[in-house]
Amino acid sequence: MIRFLLNQKEINTALPPGMLLLDFIRYRENLKGTKIGCREGDCGACTVLIGEIKEGKLFYAGATSCLMALGNAAGKHIVTVEGLNIDGLNAVQQAFADEGATQCGFCTPGFIVSLGGFCMSDNTPSYEKGIDSVNGNICRCTGYKSIERAVARINNLLSQRAAGSALQFAVDNNIIPGYFLNAEEDLRRLRAAIPEPATAVGNKVLGGGTDLYVQQHDTMPYEQIHFLFDRNELKGIRKEGKTGEIGAAATVTDIADSPVFKDFFPGLANYIRLISSTPIRNMATVGGNFTNASPIGDLTIFFLALDAQLTLMNGSDTRTIPLKSFYKGYKILDKQPGEIITKISFTLPGKEQLFNFEKVSKRTCLDIASVNTAILLTTEGHIISKANISAGGVGPIPLFLLKSSEWLTGKPVTTDIVEQLIQMIQSEISPISDARGTATYKRLLLAQLIKAHFISLFPHIALQQLTKLPA
Ligand code: FES
Ligand code: FES
Repeated sequence: MIRFLLNQKEINTALPPGMLLLDFIRYRENLKGTKIGCREGDCGACTVLIGEIKEGKLFYAGATSCLMALGNAAGKHIVTVEGLNIDGLNAVQQAFADEGATQCGFCTPGFIVSLGGFCMSDNTPSYEKGIDSVNGNICRCTGYKSIERAVARINNLLSQRAAGSALQFAVDNNIIPGYFLNAEEDLRRLRAAIPEPATAVGNKVLGGGTDLYVQQHDTMPYEQIHFLFDRNELKGIRKEGKTGEIGAAATVTDIADSPVFKDFFPGLANYIRLISSTPIRNMATVGGNFTNASPIGDLTIFFLALDAQLTLMNGSDTRTIPLKSFYKGYKILDKQPGEIITKISFTLPGKEQLFNFEKVSKRTCLDIASVNTAILLTTEGHIISKANISAGGVGPIPLFLLKSSEWLTGKPVTTDIVEQLIQMIQSEISPISDARGTATYKRLLLAQLIKAHFISLFPHIALQQLTKLPA
């Protein structure tokens, strides 16, 4: 049985755990406010809030229900747009109405849910954070200016609240209904009745589902699923001495919020902004990104440059391998049937090391990379004493550019060296023409991104010529 809270109702269901939460909400519970746009995580029409108790406190985060397994709702509080209703319009709905921020209305429930989640967060509110909270929601007919004004109205309202009182303030100001004040207690009671998250052990291993439900949407609902997303031993991000350790079920949001990553990667917020959207980041796991084996997986490219190690487990057997030897060919992994990734570990960058991640996609944000790349350089003055360079979208697998990384070792940082490095890299990649661009275009993109690495990491060195496009 899968047990969770759906708005104010306790759900107890024996339906297939691989069923989409979206389909359960709409067709079993008849809550049709949650819309279906793309069924691929791209539009936000199906956004719901997921309430979970983390570190002793109830948190709400948005997720696209079109990519979420019913089994991953177990032990959580799922909130649809109906669950935010009060008598009359709630304050977020009213702001949308007052600002003319809805026209056909198809996208509106998703926006209301995302912005409602923003109001329930104890983080200090700001207009920028409000806008960021709707970054996975697309509107095709109203125009975003009126939506931005509605966000500004809500932010003005939130600016009056005292720190740490988000839920009480939201209830007192007609943003959300009063039952939310009991939600934490109700959820604790439910969790106590199901100490272990409901899982069905099967042969289909599932993390957050943000890739598998896109790739295999017709078959996933019928699979026997081995759920990993809520396994505590696969969660968490730790610093052990000079090593960073990440549980394979940690999400992209966990990385973005992690004090360890914030400390050691000053550009982290900029990198994360380039990776999908907030609702996807809330569900997408690190282990899933690696196992998906996409040649352009953003996290894969990020961690390849860090020369990360993977720990794999099969029953009681474990082994550790470098991430760069995990990929044997297009979607072919060094992974036995039944093996799962449990942990990712890497040496945290020291003071003398510089890291950067770059990505180009058809849209600046919320899109799959055309080409992405990361670099980790150890420097002694202007000399590079060690280099790790990775690149995605330029070969059948995510590439660790070993030859080029070795060539760069011992070289000074000059315009000439960067130009020579780019030539070296061109001999190490083999892009193909596809929907994301021609092979020639991808070669040019990677060349430009390599220049971007050096311009970003060495702003004090005169590398201006690098900005010129090749003839
Ligand atoms: Fe478009 Fe789910 S239906 S994100
Ligand atoms: Fe029509 Fe947004 S109001 S898509």
